[in-house]
Amino acid sequence: MNKKKLLIIGIVIIAIILIATISYFIYKNFNNKNNKESETNNSTGSIEQNENVEYSNSKDLFNFETKTVKLNSGYDMPLNGIGTYSQTGDECYNSITSALNSGVRLIDTAYMYHNEEEIGRAIRDSGVPREEIFVITKIYPTQFDDPEGAIEMALEKLNIGYIDMMLLHHPGDGDVEAYKAMEKYVEEGKIRSIGLSNWYIEELEEFLPQVDTVPALVQNEIHPYYQELDVVPYIQSKGIVVQGWYPFGGRGHTSELLNDETIVEIANAHNVTAAQVILRWNLQRGVVVIPGSSNPEHIKENTEIYHFELTDEEMQKMESLNRDEKHDWY
Ligand SMILES: NC(=O)c1ccc[n+]([C@@H]2O[C@H](COP(=O)([O-])OP(=O)(O)OC[C@H]3O[C@@H](n4cnc5c(N)ncnc54)[C@H](OP(=O)(O)O)[C@@H]3O)[C@@H](O)[C@H]2O)c1
Repeated sequence: MNKKKLLIIGIVIIAIILIATISYFIYKNFNNKNNKESETNNSTGSIEQNENVEYSNSKDLFNFETKTVKLNSGYDMPLNGIGTYSQTGDECYNSITSALNSGVRLIDTAYMYHNEEEIGRAIRDSGVPREEIFVITKIYPTQFDDPEGAIEMALEKLNIGYIDMMLLHHPGDGDVEAYKAMEKYVEEGKIRSIGLSNWYIEELEEFLPQVDTVPALVQNEIHPYYQELDVVPYIQSKGIVVQGWYPFGGRGHTSELLNDETIVEIANAHNVTAAQVILRWNLQRGVVVIPGSSNPEHIKENTEIYHFELTDEEMQKMESLNRDEKHDWY
C-alpha cells in the first residue's frame, strides 16, 4: 500500500470518529430536552407538583436538623406532633396549649374526635403564628356522600383560615369522589395537602390510579408490636410520607409496650424513657409520630427525641419485637 492510500484511509477513520462523536452529543442533548419536557407535561404546573417528580423515597426527605419532612405537595411538615383522639373540651384545649408551649407544631385531629373547635381555639389563643403550626384533620366515611359539606364544616370548626392536611379517615363507599373534592379545595387554597388514613398496599394499588394527586401522607397504625414491615417501605417508595397512629400501642396497651424489656434496656443505654425510644425508632424508620397525651410532662418528654440515636443493632432489636399484632380494627 502506498503512502497516498494510507493517508486517505487515515482521514476516513478520523472523519468517522468525528461524525460518531458529534452524533452522540446531538442525540444525548435531544433526549435530555425531551425528558425535561415530559416531566413538565406530567406535572400540574405548580411548583409543588414539579418537586414531586424528583422524589424517590420519602424516608430520605426527613431532616433531623429542621425536624421536618418535605411533603410531595411542597410543604414542610414537623416530624413529631400530638394526637388528640379521645380528648375533648378543656382537656383537649389544655393539651394543645401545653403542646404549643413545649414547641410542638403538628396537631392531629379528625371530625370523629369531636374536638376541632377546641383545637382551633387553642391555636388562636396561643399567639404562635398560624404558619408555624401544621394541622391535620380527617373526614369520615359517613361524610363521603357530601364531602364539600364535610370540608366546609371542618374549616368552620377549626376556624384557622386553612387546613394544612386533610385525610380520608378510612376507605369506604364514595372515597374517590371525596378525595376529588379535597383536590378541588387544594386548588382553591383552603386545604394545602391531602392524604389517606388506614390504606394498605391493596387499597392503595386500587385507589391511586383513580386520582390525580399522589397523597402527601398515609397515616396507619404503627407501633413496635405492629410494624407494617412491608407496607411502610411500599408507601415510602412512592414518595408518600408515612405517619403512625398508636405509637405506644393505644390505650390499654401502653403499659405493656412501655415496660417491654427490650425497649427499657435500650432506653437505659441512652438515659431516656421507653416512650422516647419508641418515638425515635419511628423517626429512624422514616415514620412521623403523633403520640396522644394530655399530661404536660409526657407532652414535653415526647418532643425530646433528637439528642440521641439508636444504633443499627438497636434498630434490629426493635424490629424483632414485631408480632403483626393489630390493636384496632382498621
Ligand atoms: N387515623 C386513625 O384511624 C387513628 C386511629 C387512632 C389514633 N389516631 C391518632 O393517633 C394518635 C395517637 O394515638 P393514641 O393517642 O390513641 O394512642 P398512643 O399515642 O399510642 O397512646 C396514648 C397513651 O399513651 C400515654 N402516653 C403518652 N405519652 C406518654 C409518655 N411519654 N409516657 C407514658 N405514657 C405516655 C397517654 O397517657 P397520658 O395522657 O397520661 O400522657 C395515653 O394514655 C391519636 O391521638 C390520634 O390523633 C389515628
